[in-house]
Amino acid sequence: MITTDKLQQVANHYERGDVGARILAALAAAGKPVDALTPDDLAPVDQFHIRGPLATRELLHLAELTEGSTVLDVGGGLGGPARVLASELGCHVTVLDLAEAFCQAGELLTARTGLQAFVTFRQGNALDLPFPDESFDAVWTQHSSMNIEDKQQLYREMARVLRPGGKLAFNEILAGAGQPLHFPVPWASHANNPPWAYI
Ligand SMILES: C[S@@+](CC[C@H](N)C(=O)[O-])C[C@H]1O[C@@H](n2cnc3c(N)ncnc32)[C@H](O)[C@@H]1O
Repeated sequence: MITTDKLQQVANHYERGDVGARILAALAAAGKPVDALTPDDLAPVDQFHIRGPLATRELLHLAELTEGSTVLDVGGGLGGPARVLASELGCHVTVLDLAEAFCQAGELLTARTGLQAFVTFRQGNALDLPFPDESFDAVWTQHSSMNIEDKQQLYREMARVLRPGGKLAFNEILAGAGQPLHFPVPWASHANNPPWAYI
C-alpha cells in the first residue's frame, strides 16, 4: 500500500498500464516463445539499469553469492535481475518494489520463464521493508536509490533484514561531479516537479 503522495508520484512515474501484457505482445510479435521465455529473451525490457544484463552478471560475480542464497532485490522492478540470479545460481529472490503494476507484471513474466519457485514479488516501500530482522543472506539493489531521499533509512532497513555476515550488493547512480542534471532522466521527468530525483 502506498501511503504518501510522493511515493505515489514515484510509482506513477514508472507504471504504464498493463506492462506485462504489453511486453508479452511485443515478444510474440518478435517471434519469441512467450510460454517458455528465458531471462535473455526478456533482457531488452526487464533490466532497467545502465548496461542491463551485463551489469547484473558483473554484480553477480562481484557479490560472490553462493548457490541457493536467499536474496532481497530492493526496488527490483520487473524482476529481470532476480530471474538471472535464480536461473544462473539457484538463488531464492524476493523482489520488493513500490509499483504494484511492476510486481504483477513481474509475476506474469516469471511464470513464463518457469522460475516461480525461485522468484516472488512483494509490493512495498524500501524505507519500511515488510520483512523481519535477519531474513536474507544478501540484499541486492540496482538503480533504485535515485528516487529515495532518506538514504540513511534506506541502508538502515537493508542492514536490518540482512542476516549477520550477509552481503549488500549494489549498483547505483551517485551524484559525483556531474551536476546539475539535464532532465529528463530515466528516473525523473523534471528537476523540481515531481521533486524526487535524489541522487
Ligand atoms: C530504474 S528502476 C530499476 C528496477 C530494477 N532494479 C532493475 O534494475 O531492473 C527503479 C525501481 O525502483 C522502484 N522504487 C523507487 N522508489 C522505491 C521505494 N521507495 N521502494 C521500493 N521501490 C522503489 C521503482 O518502482 C522502480 O521499479
